[in-house]
Amino acid sequence: MTGPRSIHNLALIGFMGTGKSCVGRLAADAMHFTFLDTDHVIEARAGKPISDIFAQDGEPAFRGWERRIVEELTRREKTVIATGGGLPADPANLASLKTHALVVCLWASPESIWERVRGHDHRPLLNEDDPLARIRELLSAREPHYRQADVLVNTEMRSIREVAQHVIHQFHMAQSAHR
Ligand code: S3P
Repeated sequence: MTGPRSIHNLALIGFMGTGKSCVGRLAADAMHFTFLDTDHVIEARAGKPISDIFAQDGEPAFRGWERRIVEELTRREKTVIATGGGLPADPANLASLKTHALVVCLWASPESIWERVRGHDHRPLLNEDDPLARIRELLSAREPHYRQADVLVNTEMRSIREVAQHVIHQFHMAQSAHR
């Protein structure tokens, strides 16, 4: 990254089930920021759930939606953005987020992720015979991208509230450093 960063927003990246939406909502409330979840924006624009977008239009169409939403985010201020788990796997998305947001990655082990997401059936990428193996495979493929975040937060030993507090603290420190 060259030149000074301007940090108006907080972007949460990380694998499915790491708590991006819950942490993001708590952090936004505490900071009096707007909360935005890229998956929800896509569902509202497409007029259907993500599982239908994957089934009817295919994953590339979904990734296209993500790219378009990411471009629009550059105009936001005071927003906490929770991103879909695969969004930062496109380096252009991550680079764009970094132009206006502190990018924080929430991390958890494959086993914890599986514990958190099992019982939910709205994630098309995990509708597989062996979802834990799929989580391991996707997580290791995405790890290099997640590690490009400004801050990496392990969510394993912390409550959602503690993670939110930690993230807010990191945001305030980054803002004062880049002011
Ligand atoms: C995806 C994660 C999901 C959603 C879509 C694809 C992924 O978001 O964007 O099902 O590729 O990891 P969450 O991380 O909010 O579950």
